[in-house]
Amino acid sequence: RQPVDSPLYPLLDAAGEYYRQALKSHPTRKAAVEYLKGRGLSGVIARDFGLGFAPPGWDNLMKHLGGDALQQKAMIDAGLLIENADNGKRYDRFRDRVMFPIRDSRGRVIAFGGRVLGDDKPKYLNSPETPVFHKGQELYGLYEARKANRDLDEIMVVEGYMDVIALAQQGLRNAVATLGTATSEEHLKRLFRIVPHVLFCFDGDMAGRKAAWRALEATLPNLQDGRRARFLFLPDGEDPDSLVRAEGTDAFRARINQQAQPLADYFFQQLSEEADPRSLEGKAHLATLAAPLIEKIPGANLRTLMRQRLSELTGLNGQALQEMSQSSPRQE
Ligand code: CTP
Ligand code: MN
Ligand code: MN
Ligand code: MN
Ligand code: MN
Repeated sequence: RQPVDSPLYPLLDAAGEYYRQALKSHPTRKAAVEYLKGRGLSGVIARDFGLGFAPPGWDNLMKHLGGDALQQKAMIDAGLLIENADNGKRYDRFRDRVMFPIRDSRGRVIAFGGRVLGDDKPKYLNSPETPVFHKGQELYGLYEARKANRDLDEIMVVEGYMDVIALAQQGLRNAVATLGTATSEEHLKRLFRIVPHVLFCFDGDMAGRKAAWRALEATLPNLQDGRRARFLFLPDGEDPDSLVRAEGTDAFRARINQQAQPLADYFFQQLSEEADPRSLEGKAHLATLAAPLIEKIPGANLRTLMRQRLSELTGLNGQALQEMSQSSPRQE
């Protein structure tokens, strides 16, 4: 997946170290420290996640890491510097932001996310794709979650950096986030190699609902029997960070226990909203939507049980449903 060795690793590591130091001692650090405190984060969590600060200014990192032409070229490759295409001028990508190092499974820094301290745009700035960073494959917080838990049983997938960190701050150290991309089959493959149970907990907004369905679709081909995925839907306008801070760890845990929906339940509930099984037309439509998706499930038992459920909902027998999904790979 990643190059075994690359000159970019020590460079990214040194950058992470610089940002961490800046959060501790740079003359302009105050607003960043206040910002993190204001979001309820302690020094311990800042340390565990290697949080840092990119000071304001165009060339802090460039100067710090020194810079013959070769080194600067490597910094560009690592996504740390930007080169202006017109005049060739180089400058720090991350300026005046709180820095979140993104680590690979071995703990090496491979990229950064940077958040503005105020309301400027973009709210988050992320490293570009580089030889060591492929956004669609990485999960923020996975290294930290594994480090904090000897035996992980369930991993929670959330949307954002701050969700991962706020949950960790509240003692829930098993959250990971996709990096502003949809949850992919690749993500799920990785997660299920580590744990049998995955819990999706996205924001309680329209984007979060869409993300949940896409996560379901990415999960289906990874659902061997013995694996389980659940979905927790948050109140509109909340995200895991805001909610866990508002209601506390115990209430959030209770919410998971009481409200997290098994994948199969969410599946039929969502599809029944699109195709109302109270009418024959709805039943017919529901069958065409659900059958091909069910066939993606590798777990023979779950696949059979979901076919049965679809039979009960539609009145179509299992034979008919199976034939349908084989003869109609097309989606209308
Ligand atoms: N994101 C991004 N670039 C943006 C906005 C969002 O990369 N301009 C990604 C980040 O990984 C972010 C996640 O999408 O953490 C979720 O976005 P959002 O819910 O908008 O942000 P929050 O994580 O809730 O940010 P915060 O709580 O700091 O406002
Ligand atoms: Mn179990
Ligand atoms: Mn959101
Ligand atoms: Mn948030
Ligand atoms: Mn959010």
